Amino acid sequence: MKTRIGVVGSNMVDLVTYTDRMPEAGETLAAPSFSMGHGGKGANQAVAAARLGADVMLVSRVGEDLFGEGTIKNFRSVGIDARHVRPVPGTQSGVAPIFVDPSGENRILIVKGANDHLLPADVDEAAADLRECGLILLQLEIPLETIYYTVAWAAREGIEVLLNPAPAVPELDVERILQATFLVPNQTELTILTGMPADTREQAEAAARSLVSRGIRTVIVTLGAEGALLVSSAPTVHIPSVPVRPHDTSGAGDAFIGAFAQHYVRSHDVAAAMRQGAAYAADSITRPGTQKAFADAEGFARFRASLGEQG
Ligand code: RIB
Ligand code: NA
Repeated sequence: MKTRIGVVGSNMVDLVTYTDRMPEAGETLAAPSFSMGHGGKGANQAVAAARLGADVMLVSRVGEDLFGEGTIKNFRSVGIDARHVRPVPGTQSGVAPIFVDPSGENRILIVKGANDHLLPADVDEAAADLRECGLILLQLEIPLETIYYTVAWAAREGIEVLLNPAPAVPELDVERILQATFLVPNQTELTILTGMPADTREQAEAAARSLVSRGIRTVIVTLGAEGALLVSSAPTVHIPSVPVRPHDTSGAGDAFIGAFAQHYVRSHDVAAAMRQGAAYAADSITRPGTQKAFADAEGFARFRASLGEQG
């Protein structure tokens, strides 16, 4: 059984401002605090899984700048195999200005920079190493052609794929991702994928079921404070969230997926992996930042112990 996790995805430098409100046009507003850290959905998911002890490799692109060098160093420091993380000449590293309000809710802008240069040829170049993976994680901060290519390639190779359709990209062609093993949207992304409402748990289940009937094997809908839903050909399973006081929810979806993947590649127990994902995401939203807020295995074990749960 292959337990290595491959991520073909983005990295960004997160510029997080904590503010009471957003400024109006033409207004200058003083905000209470700021935090800079490593982010990007691909990188975040890779780092979450690695912090929990998974063997992770990443295929990603950075700019020819200081952010790029720092990003590669950061991957090495958490033990990620970053041999396929390379600078693209003449580009800037991706950045994400993020605004977090007092309730912990986030608003994110992304400037993809070098991430837009991660192409199918780069997947081919990493193919020998990706073949050693039991699961490949994809998100939508890299070109769609690379997503379609990787889904088709992995299907031919018999490697499972988890596609997190985030951020929501209306142009995504669902017909070209039907071979993904897991599709993991939040409610907004699910609505964009299906054209169906997904505000309530019942609506989200119906929308996810429409994707299953189109051919996606397993849809996992993340519902924020409502937990997550597992929708497949079997009866739907609801995993409740772990109640915490949110400080900063940015990166919570990535925490869920990274922790899910780390559990799933060893257990192949989807519901148990979702429970780990939900607990890890809950812990992460109690702290500021994205990757900065992701616990290591020891910290996460302490969090679970504080809930009276067993690892
Ligand atoms: O999902 C959170 C992430 O979205 C942030 O780290 C930011 O970089 C954007 O990619
Ligand atoms: Na956080």
